[in-house]
Amino acid sequence: MDAANPAQLYPQHLAVLKARADEALARSGHDHLLIPSGRRHYQLFDDRDYPFAVNPHFKHWLPLTTVTDSWLVYTPGQRPKVIYLQPFDYWHVVPEAPAGWWVGHCEVHVIRTPEEALPLLPPAARCAILGEANSTLGDYAPNNPAAALDYLHYQRSYKTPYELALMRLAQRRAAHAHRAAERAFRAGASEFEIHMAYCAAAQQDATEVPYQNIVALNTHGAVLHYTELDRDPPAESLSFLIDAGASHCGYAADITRTYAADRGSEFQAMIEAVDAAQQDMCAAVRAGADYRQLHLDAHLALMRILRDFGVLKVSPEAALATGVSAAFFPHGLGHPIGLQVHDVAGFAASDRGGTLPRPEGHPYLRMTRVLEPGMVVTIEPGIYFIDMLLDEVKKNGHGDSIDWARVDHFRPYGGIRIEDDVACTDGAPENLTRPAFA
Ligand code: GLY
Ligand code: MN
Ligand code: MN
Repeated sequence: MDAANPAQLYPQHLAVLKARADEALARSGHDHLLIPSGRRHYQLFDDRDYPFAVNPHFKHWLPLTTVTDSWLVYTPGQRPKVIYLQPFDYWHVVPEAPAGWWVGHCEVHVIRTPEEALPLLPPAARCAILGEANSTLGDYAPNNPAAALDYLHYQRSYKTPYELALMRLAQRRAAHAHRAAERAFRAGASEFEIHMAYCAAAQQDATEVPYQNIVALNTHGAVLHYTELDRDPPAESLSFLIDAGASHCGYAADITRTYAADRGSEFQAMIEAVDAAQQDMCAAVRAGADYRQLHLDAHLALMRILRDFGVLKVSPEAALATGVSAAFFPHGLGHPIGLQVHDVAGFAASDRGGTLPRPEGHPYLRMTRVLEPGMVVTIEPGIYFIDMLLDEVKKNGHGDSIDWARVDHFRPYGGIRIEDDVACTDGAPENLTRPAFA
């Protein structure tokens, strides 16, 4: 068995999905699982469509991200049926004839219009239909039974070897593009030019990457979701924060790196300190670890760095208790990742529903579960110099915790974030990102 070959790993993946579907159907009381791939969405009063985003449940079964109006039909004990729309259409390039490692494992029906699916579907009343409302065809309206979705979303946290293989390939594509982006930064390119260099190297355009690229020079690094892309380079590029991923067969990579133009600067030293701390945090992705605790531990590690660099004047523990740490690190340590960059079930208390709360005072954490083998999470600590949040620190009476001259020194660099995607295993974690850069 070749652990890097999705074709060899697919049969085991399919067996896992079938077993999960059997249980989901038993729980929701249905006989068939129906998953529409989805339809196009159109802009208001316009015939212009938005980039198509396939139903994540569909791409879980099949490595298909561009086919619309198609269906996956699963009945326990039977081969999955794939109803595949390949329309007669001379306006657009239509999907290729079904091909790939999945075809031999499924009963494939090619249809030419969406309605041709109707006689191929089992009786609607007996179906759990997972999809969005606009996928409705005839009597087949998605009912999204909670018992089935709670179970399937929870189980989706546990990646199969096939999924991990696809995620490693997404990492390779993204890491190659990160290298190109760094070169463009060091050559003095604008944000827009760096973004274009990234997309060219990834061979994916803005509609294909799993989220909008964050390409931030200088103070723009302090805007957590900066997506503006200035067309002109700044007078001087001091720093570069890039949060950009890539997709492979519908699986996401989510990677952030930060660079200083001056490799001898204090900012470069701070990047290296965050990088080293981030590696320790990645090493803590172990079965049994509560992700909430990892998040709180990250606050303390980052505050130690700020104290070492003379920015913080109080202990890390005091900064965490007073909320000062959240002014410098105002987002969560990370999130589950897979078919969606922010994958489902980060708060799931069980496969029967329920929510695990965030720690008080940490409203942006996206993952509150205990880690188990097979889960993949991002680890993305950051330190930012955000005036809006630092003003709050002053207003709340904690201004004495900070050396403001040191803030003035670092403010022009914006911020630092280092983000890798890490798989939890039975033993040592597998950092999916670092080997892709090697
Ligand atoms: N790129 C979005 C995130 O890191 O969560
Ligand atoms: Mn990211
Ligand atoms: Mn992320």
